[in-house]
Amino acid sequence: MLLLTIESSCDETSAAVVRDGRQILSNIVASQVDVHARYGGVVPELASRKHVEAITVVIDEALEQAGVSLDDIEGVAVTRGPGLVGALLVGLSAAKAIAFARDLPLVGVHHIEGHILAALMEGDIAFPYLALAVSGGHTHLYHVEGIGRYRILGRTLDDAAGEAFDKVAKLLGLGYPGGVHIDRLAAKGDPEAISFPRPLLHKKNLNFSFSGIKTAVLNYVKSQPGPIEGAHLENVAASFQAAAAEVLCQKTLRAARETGLQRVVVAGGVACNSGLRRQMQLLAQKEGLEVHFPSPALCGDNAAMLAVAGDHYLSSGFRAPLDLNAVASWPLDRVGN
Ligand code: KG4
Ligand code: ZN
Repeated sequence: MLLLTIESSCDETSAAVVRDGRQILSNIVASQVDVHARYGGVVPELASRKHVEAITVVIDEALEQAGVSLDDIEGVAVTRGPGLVGALLVGLSAAKAIAFARDLPLVGVHHIEGHILAALMEGDIAFPYLALAVSGGHTHLYHVEGIGRYRILGRTLDDAAGEAFDKVAKLLGLGYPGGVHIDRLAAKGDPEAISFPRPLLHKKNLNFSFSGIKTAVLNYVKSQPGPIEGAHLENVAASFQAAAAEVLCQKTLRAARETGLQRVVVAGGVACNSGLRRQMQLLAQKEGLEVHFPSPALCGDNAAMLAVAGDHYLSSGFRAPLDLNAVASWPLDRVGN
């Protein structure tokens, strides 16, 4: 099937054209980062307004870059949730309007489902596998039995991993979103310079906690006589990143041992982090795991990632009704398509 896919759950307006859930013909992402940067985080009302401004332009561009028109499209997949409800509604309304006007089948896809299946677009990965979803809003470990069959194994009890990167970046005076700034500085710093805590590391469960690491960085910053700059700043970034990555890696290893799963997919914006990629690859080599990271364009929010599930559901005959609503909160183990 040739699908048009639309994503607008947070601060990226994205549309893509994908064939058979795998072949990406276009994947346009319009980021609103500049709009939200001055507030140090996403402002929901501004996000909705910017989505409205961008949505038709982004869809037109996705069709044009793919070299197709709406006449060629055979189905529409859209992020239904979770996310900012006002933002989700913009993409969902556009998707429903196109589906109605063109009499096309429609499906609503779970945002995290998109993230954890994105790696399948770049190579075959056999089910079942373990998925570590790490983004600005999520830090979850899932047992992925197949498309539409997900079991939550663990989750963060407080901040999401990306949220922790963003908050630490903010208190270090870096830009928003902070993950990429921390990553860049950490590459030049010493990850062992400062010993930040590894919360829940030795607890016999698969949950995470990141607010303690963030508070430890805040206390460290406050304890310093002057501003943290230069090599010192690089060391703080590297030490924080090492602590966060170690917790993510060790909990993933524990999950692999407990479930017997050998294949691991790391997904979401934080999967771009070079320290996490390096630590996870080393661990995989040592422990005999097979680890997959989508390429950076498929890690962050993008519409193409919705096509794997979207194509599967539509090809199996599923059709969403045109009164489909957005859902701000939607547990992945209850996708129910
Ligand atoms: O998946 P995503 O694009 O949006 C959500 O669904 O939240 O993830 C965004 C998050 C942000 O918190 C951002 O700081 C983080 O991913 N991120 C990174 C890196 N690139 C993006 N975190 C650490 N290192 C990076 N290189
Ligand atoms: Zn996301």
